[in-house]
Parts: sequence; structure tokens; C-alpha cells
Amino acid sequence: MYKQKLNVHLYVTPICNLQCIHCYYEAKNTKFKIEDTLSIKDMKYIIEVLIDNYDAYFDIEGGEIFLREDIHSLFNSLDKKYLNRLTITTNGTIDFDINQEYLKYLDEFRISFEGNTNKIQKQIRGITLEKPLNLAKKLLKNKIMPTIRITIHKQNFNKISDIIDFYSSYGFKKFSFYEFISIGRGKNYNELSLNDNDFYLLANEIKNLNNNIDYKFSFPKHRVKFFKNYINIAGVSSLTIDYNGNIGICPWKIGQDIFAKFDKDNFLSIISNKNLIHNCDYCSAIRITNA
Ligand SMILES: C[S@@+](CC[C@H](N)C(=O)[O-])C[C@H]1O[C@@H](n2cnc3c(N)ncnc32)[C@H](O)[C@@H]1O
Ligand code: SF4
Repeated sequence: MYKQKLNVHLYVTPICNLQCIHCYYEAKNTKFKIEDTLSIKDMKYIIEVLIDNYDAYFDIEGGEIFLREDIHSLFNSLDKKYLNRLTITTNGTIDFDINQEYLKYLDEFRISFEGNTNKIQKQIRGITLEKPLNLAKKLLKNKIMPTIRITIHKQNFNKISDIIDFYSSYGFKKFSFYEFISIGRGKNYNELSLNDNDFYLLANEIKNLNNNIDYKFSFPKHRVKFFKNYINIAGVSSLTIDYNGNIGICPWKIGQDIFAKFDKDNFLSIISNKNLIHNCDYCSAIRITNA
């Protein structure tokens, strides 16, 4: 049976223990009163029904996903065929029991870093590398290969090889790079954006990377001109579901394009009647990968 491709972003909590200067989601601090939130049962339903009816892949994040203590019960309740389609992203600072079965079956477990030095990590994330690096090492020890998730911006665009060398020296082999988007809190830090000259240098560095690790670079459509070889990932349907059940399309514009509120009784019919094809200036349209 043909199934329509669908990229889903599910934000499970609005709060975060960090206050990164570039946070496009504008995560609230931990004192924020969460009044209205999807239950674990709701999220399980959303994941299962969308994967059953679409060729759907999920990015599950927040805020900080592991501030929701009940999140493990969601993943532990899902069959492998659903877990295989989930990528989760964490800031790596929240302790949890990593002996959880589900971790083996996720599509990706991403941990966010800004570079390979405490200086850059502190400047953007307000923390050192220690905690997220320790989590990554613990996972590796448990035979789970985390993805090193890097946002590329003015402070690190010319250090990509150093960053890869640093993390691969610990045995990490999966990397995922996205470009900084000046949106949300990032709007106040336009100076982190890359100009065309910066991007030209970055594109050259990407072309000359050695292939000992798996890398994925995802860029918005205005970067097409810098590459001859890339995978076109534009124009796929997109769905963004916020922690409170607000449903929109673009993951970068949370709250700005809401067209429904989650209700189990009509969820699938509302989604299937909506044109979800999405092609904005922020979303990834090309991918350069050796994976
Ligand atoms: C919003 S965070 C949520 C997950 C988790 N709190 C974390 O930081 O890993 C998801 C990812 O978006 C990245 N990010 C945040 N602001 C961004 C921006 N303005 N442009 C591009 N990526 C951004 C983060 O570095 C992180 O890798
Ligand atoms: S980028 Fe992630 S860790 Fe940083 S403030 Fe936003 S949600 Fe929190």
C-alpha cells in the first residue's frame, strides 16, 4: 500500500533546564506552569496512528525531553516497528537509567553539542561539554551509538573537521549537522548566521571530509547553489505537534500556523484532509551524506 511521506515533530514539553541563546523553540524555564499537556496515551496514539497510516518519521524533542519523567513509559510501550521511526534529541544533562530496552531500537538518539570546546558550549548552551559527553560515552559503553548533533553557526563553521576528529576520537561515528536559523531566541543573535562567503568555505570543507564516520548535513533550500551532489529532501509533508496538542505544520514556527487541537476522535480525519506539503525557507531541503 502506498503511504504518503510525513515528517512529524512532536514537542513533549515546553520546559528546559538550559536557556541556550539560540533556542528556536524558546523553551521556558523549569518554573513555567505547564497547564495543558498531551498525556503519554495521547502521544502513543499519535505515533502509532501516523506510522500506521503514513510513511512517517518522528523527531521527538522539546524543551528537554527527559524533564518529562514519564517519557520512558511512552517509549517502553511502543513496538519496535514504531521505535525504528523515532529520533529523539536531548541536551544530555538530565540523568536517567540508560538500561532501557527501547534505546536499542530508536532510529536515532541525538545529543546536542555546539562544538568541541567548553568555550563554545558555554557561550551558546551555558554549560561545559562534560555532562552531554558523559551521556554519549555511557551509551556507547551500552552498545548504543548516539548521534552527535551540531548546529553550525559563525562560531564553528570553520571547525567542522576538528569537531568530527574530537568526537570520533571517543568512538562516536554518527554526526548530524544543521545550520543555525535566526528564529525564536536565535533572532536576537543574527551575528551567528553564516553569510555566503562563510558558507562557501563550509561547503568546501564538507566536500573534502574523510569518510570514516557517518555524517548528514541538512540545509535549507537557499544553500542548493553551493553543492553539485545532494539529496533532495524538499517538499515532504510536515506536521508539528506541540506539547499542548496544538497542531501546525512548520517545526520552526511553532504556534504560528496552528490549524487544529489534538482530539483522538477526529485526529486522523483532520490530518488526512489537510494539505501538509511544506517547503519553507527554514526547513531542510537538501542533505549531504555518506551514510
Ligand atoms: C530545540 S532543541 C530541543 C532538544 C534538546 N533540548 C536539545 O537542545 O538537544 C533541538 C535542536 O535544535 C537545535 N537548535 C536550537 N536552536 C536552533 C536554531 N536557532 N537554529 C538551528 N538549530 C537550533 C538545538 O541545538 C538542538 O540540537
Ligand atoms: S536548544 Fe534545547 S537545551 Fe537549549 S534551551 Fe532550547 S530546548 Fe533547551
